[in-house]
Amino acid sequence: MGMTILPLEEHIAAEVRGIEVGSPHSEETFAQLRRALYRHSVLVFHDQDISDEQQVAFTRGFGRLQVTMASDPYGGGGFINRIANVDEEGRLIPPRDKRSLYQSGNNLWHSDGSFKAVPLRASMLSAKVVPPRGGETEYASLRAAYAALPDARKVQLEGLVAEHSMAHSRAQIAPGLLTEAFRKETPPVRHVLVRAVPETGEKALYVGSYASHIIGWEREKGSALLKELLDWSTQPRFVYRHRWKTNDLVMWDNRSCLHRGRPWENGIYKRIMHRTTLAGDGPTVS
Ligand code: SIN
Repeated sequence: MGMTILPLEEHIAAEVRGIEVGSPHSEETFAQLRRALYRHSVLVFHDQDISDEQQVAFTRGFGRLQVTMASDPYGGGGFINRIANVDEEGRLIPPRDKRSLYQSGNNLWHSDGSFKAVPLRASMLSAKVVPPRGGETEYASLRAAYAALPDARKVQLEGLVAEHSMAHSRAQIAPGLLTEAFRKETPPVRHVLVRAVPETGEKALYVGSYASHIIGWEREKGSALLKELLDWSTQPRFVYRHRWKTNDLVMWDNRSCLHRGRPWENGIYKRIMHRTTLAGDGPTVS
């Protein structure tokens, strides 16, 4: 059976059938998957019981892998980011523990790595253990959100630059969540507010929880604009909600969508996800 790609929502997400991601694939297959990713922003693969090595190999088929930062508490310099509410011994981490609070930053709408000068191109999440309810991931199309803006608004946004930082994201959860080393390794960076996905030329808004204000604008005015655009981009009509099953693999293009995790009874049920990422194309500001 050949590979088939079935759109899941009007603006975002498609399911890929007829492929075992743990097997080697031709460059032609990866080219087809890349095109599907640019078109749908999110690709869903069900029933993929894969090892970390197979996930790394599959991710590599799309481009250059990104290693996690050495100071990242859940990456530690390797290719796999372990997003989980259990410790190394498999014990549940209490929901009010600093480690849980830090990870709940993923429950704010964001684009992976926008706190870096060269943000991440794409991410892939493999579901190892999922709770019986809740814990979904939602994705919002930044391309559809941009396209639906009135023309006059598009003109106003052109050329604006926003500041993004890890500190701004985690300050929305609780004070003191970043280790000193991680805070030092993640100083604020600047990104354009509207960017084009290089392969398609389509424009997308670039907003999310890491973005704090607009450079050169009074802080409150800039924050208000970012909030307005975030609310606009995450309207239900632009969103796909993924309800995880064990061994689902979901890949997304960080340049054209936002995502956020949804809450679950995390003091009771385990949720363990392994994430790999692709390195970005370059800085968004010159
Ligand atoms: C992430 O933010 O990359 C992970 C989202 C999730 O755990 O649902």
